[in-house]
Amino acid sequence: MSKLIRATVMHTPANPFESDQAFESFADGAVVFKANRILSCGPYAEMREKHPEADIIDERGAYLLPGFVDTHVHFPQLTIIGAMGLPLLEWLRQRTLPAEAALSRVPEAEGAADLFLERLAANGTTTALVFGSHILTAQDAFFRKAANSGLRITSGLVLGDQNLLPELETTVGRAREETQELIARYHGHGNLRYAVTPRFSVSCSGPLLEVCGELLESAPGLYFQTHINENKEEINFVRGLFPSSRDYFDTYERYGLAGKRSVFAHNLHVSDSELSRMGTCGCSVAHCPSSNSFLGSGTFPMARHIKHGVAFGLGCDVGAGSGFSLFNESLRAYETQMLREDGYRLSPRHLLYLSGAAGARVMGLEKQIGDFTPEKEADFVLIRPPANSTLRAVLERAASCEAALGALFTLAREESVAATYVAGRRIHPKGLPA
Ligand code: GUN
Ligand code: ZN
Repeated sequence: MSKLIRATVMHTPANPFESDQAFESFADGAVVFKANRILSCGPYAEMREKHPEADIIDERGAYLLPGFVDTHVHFPQLTIIGAMGLPLLEWLRQRTLPAEAALSRVPEAEGAADLFLERLAANGTTTALVFGSHILTAQDAFFRKAANSGLRITSGLVLGDQNLLPELETTVGRAREETQELIARYHGHGNLRYAVTPRFSVSCSGPLLEVCGELLESAPGLYFQTHINENKEEINFVRGLFPSSRDYFDTYERYGLAGKRSVFAHNLHVSDSELSRMGTCGCSVAHCPSSNSFLGSGTFPMARHIKHGVAFGLGCDVGAGSGFSLFNESLRAYETQMLREDGYRLSPRHLLYLSGAAGARVMGLEKQIGDFTPEKEADFVLIRPPANSTLRAVLERAASCEAALGALFTLAREESVAATYVAGRRIHPKGLPA
């Protein structure tokens, strides 16, 4: 049976960084889907006529957008959101690593996984590239819970063999065995995929990064994720650890870790040489604006990424980021570019693209998700402004769909997310669909 959702519909069937025709909106619109696939999208009256058989879900007054794609978020860090006053390396040492070590028991890890996955869905995120845990049993618990969440999750056991807490450090042999075990158990099962995940070059010896390169080749479709060029002190540290590398990117590149399925988080203090090589390799970047300002790490050189053809999506980077909302990250991305002298002037349609389709591209899922083109999978988020809210007051007076979209990115947060669908199935809120 097909279903038709009636709402204000907006999406980006093309890339607004490349085309003026990329944004499509229908004030009284509809998306029609059957099982997991989108059949069509357009004005309500037209869709109603074209699909008289469809069950109508009347959501007038609400806004339907493609599901959000989060390209960088840490599973074990929900409890440290808001740990203020520390730059990256101190924040890791004092707050983050101890919190990550607290997931050594399976019940705690399962509880943390449930909470984390629920918050993603509650914020309209349908797909995420998730930095996991250093602890095998915790990462296994995370994958088990992710398999039941309905979300599209790519994740991996975090690896490091130096400069962490002793209980989080692995060895080259153990890293290989544990990663192989998790790949065999979860990669390609349902909506799960595996990402080889060294924490960053500060915490990884050359031999460990070499093993990461071997693991990445060990099965088709594996992803790679890590951190890069986030903080000046971190970059100096890496320079000292890898004296024969020409720059931070080279510490990954030399071990075969830079390819089309590689996603590097942050990349703030990046040289032109690094950007040019990243573009050539087809690497992507996870831009995490709220984290970058929270830790005082710096601002993202967006125009330079565009110039070098390096694709980027958004990441909330919880726990350094200020929550799971990609509405929030989009607004912070906008503000960051406004503050930079060479800032890219983003409009609401760019933010819509960055929150969904851009992430889909980073995740290699651009053929399946990201917009409402027929045949794509039916992933979307339904936004209903709460009664008596500033958001509702602004939306009721918005002069155009794009003006409404600007208000959504500025004011809508978790409280406004009415429902989240993945592959045509409502995953939030839980319970029987209305
Ligand atoms: N670099 C290495 N680990 C981390 C982390 O957990 N968060 C951030 N923001 N940067 C990192
Ligand atoms: Zn991170």
